[in-house]
Amino acid sequence: MLKEPIILGIESSCDDTSAAIIKGKKILSNEIANQEVHSIYGGVVPELASRAHQQNIIPVVDAAIKKAKIKKEDINAIAYTKGPGLLGSLLVGGSFSKSFSMGMKIPLISVNHMQAHILCHFIDEGKEVPKFPFLCLTVSGGHTQIVKIESYNSMEVIGNTIDDAAGEAFDKSAKILNLEYPGGPLIDKYAQKGNFKAFTFGKPKVKNLDFSFSGLKTSILYKIQNNLHKNPRFIEENLKDLCASIQFSIIDILINKIKKAIDKTGIKEIAIAGGVSANSFLRSELYKLSKDKKFNLYIPKFEYCTDNAAMIAISGYFKYLEKDFANQRDQSSASLSF
Ligand code: KG4
Ligand code: ZN
Repeated sequence: MLKEPIILGIESSCDDTSAAIIKGKKILSNEIANQEVHSIYGGVVPELASRAHQQNIIPVVDAAIKKAKIKKEDINAIAYTKGPGLLGSLLVGGSFSKSFSMGMKIPLISVNHMQAHILCHFIDEGKEVPKFPFLCLTVSGGHTQIVKIESYNSMEVIGNTIDDAAGEAFDKSAKILNLEYPGGPLIDKYAQKGNFKAFTFGKPKVKNLDFSFSGLKTSILYKIQNNLHKNPRFIEENLKDLCASIQFSIIDILINKIKKAIDKTGIKEIAIAGGVSANSFLRSELYKLSKDKKFNLYIPKFEYCTDNAAMIAISGYFKYLEKDFANQRDQSSASLSF
């Protein structure tokens, strides 16, 4: 039998610096350094992010190699996030990976971050994996897409946001509520004890499988501002109900589009991926829907929902099998498409 390749994955597209070691399809380590520096600014500050990546990248890679109990000489290839993301952040991971590839004389593999979110489903954990073709709702801080996946290396975006992403809708709403960045997990937490019918907000009317969240954000902002004029303690007194109602509005948009995508394509293999796929309400609503509409649902482990290098390493593995290698002239791209 052929020896399973060992691949080092590097992720640095936004505000998390991550390195992972994969052997075949099994993750040996997945180290992540989160950047606390952004929380007080209500969003990621690109200049601070790239500086923090530069400080974190060597210690994170070192920790991933140690945790995997391998030597750097055992690594057969290095895979890195080429885009999309913040250019300054991408360049740190890209430059590191090119140097490592050159120094260790091993192949360099470039990976699309959004495709990697989807491919995390194929990390070997002894669980069932989606069967081709399948649909994936990829929902993160920067993207909201419905993707049709034909094979590991062939994917088509069939629905996309025309303005904000779902994660952005969570984070911007959280900012209006004076919650720290990233607000998605906090809204999820407070929503658990709130009434999702307490407040209603404007619903977008977008055709096909596309999404829109900017109107919802404005509707949330106006409703809260109007109420604050009448009662300056409106947010504190209604925080849980506000979180539950905002979360309901965002997830409702996602669920309706996924229903539409199933009807349109007839595909009954459905996966979710990206940071917002950690949301407990999205998970439970989709689970209910999967029973009603009789489809197979695939939900990633929490640690593979938000940005991580394990998903870059598994994507690198599939490209390694095809000998789909990049070279030193490969350029990071902030708006890389499929
Ligand atoms: O995939 P990701 O880590 O980074 C990007 O590629 O953007 O996604 C981050 C996004 C943030 O907007 C964050 O608020 C959101 O995922 N998020 C959540 C939850 N956990 C993370 N949103 C709602 N509920 C959650 N539990
Ligand atoms: Zn992401």
